Amino acid sequence: MSVHKASDVKRVTTHTLRAMKESGEKIAMLTAYDYSTARILDAGGVDVLLVGDSASNVMAGHETTLPITLDQMIYHASSVVRGVQRALVIVDLPFGTYQGDSKMALKSSIRIMKESGAHAVKLEGGQEVEESIRRILTAGIPVMGHLGLTPQSIYKFGTYTVRAKQEAEARRLMKDAKLLEDLGCFGLVLEKIPADLAQKVSESLEIPTIGIGGGVHTDGQVLVTQDMLGITQDFHPRFLRRYAELFDVIRDATSAYVSDVKARNFPGDEEQY
Ligand code: KIV
Repeated sequence: MSVHKASDVKRVTTHTLRAMKESGEKIAMLTAYDYSTARILDAGGVDVLLVGDSASNVMAGHETTLPITLDQMIYHASSVVRGVQRALVIVDLPFGTYQGDSKMALKSSIRIMKESGAHAVKLEGGQEVEESIRRILTAGIPVMGHLGLTPQSIYKFGTYTVRAKQEAEARRLMKDAKLLEDLGCFGLVLEKIPADLAQKVSESLEIPTIGIGGGVHTDGQVLVTQDMLGITQDFHPRFLRRYAELFDVIRDATSAYVSDVKARNFPGDEEQY
């Protein structure tokens, strides 16, 4: 295996993602919240790392994404940026830092870009966040949209079930997707919507779509890394494929360590000075 120096590596940019859509190459995106994991995922060849506000759930143990703060997102994002050589790093604007106030949206985005070194921001919603998107883009900050199931609105939806199954909501989503492209978003997450709708949206746009629970026809896929690696427990949505069972691996390694310590088997002669 070859070892890359930072200067050898061609970084993924928002333009790369557009070119990937044009050439039909699928985009692989995962979430990351810390330096060590970001290094591993980047080495594994992931194209995009999303510092998702799902950190609120998987890192902090909250029930929803609402409690995480801008300062906490910046801490996670700066850790991820330091671990990455190739992947594009996108950071979620957390709840309460961009809705209903475009000046605040711009300020929040500038803080993220300046203090973390990330490459783009993501926010949830369509027409209702139009002014915020417009203003963020005026500062030259790339923006990714997010439609369908938007977890920051969980108390409006009431459940995490599939969105846009009804004709009216599907039409509204198509309209919002076109609006986000026209505003200048470089890409769009489509979460938990019917696969045929996700396909229709993807085929109607020039910007790439990244699906989570949106079927195979989106231009890329994203999963929460802790779900994909089998670290989270008791979460089995239909769209999730687990590529490892790290909860079991880490628990068993921990048990072996505990046993060794108790039995005075660790450290051994060769593990001391
Ligand atoms: O916060 C997050 O992890 C996300 C993905 C599920 C797309 O927004």
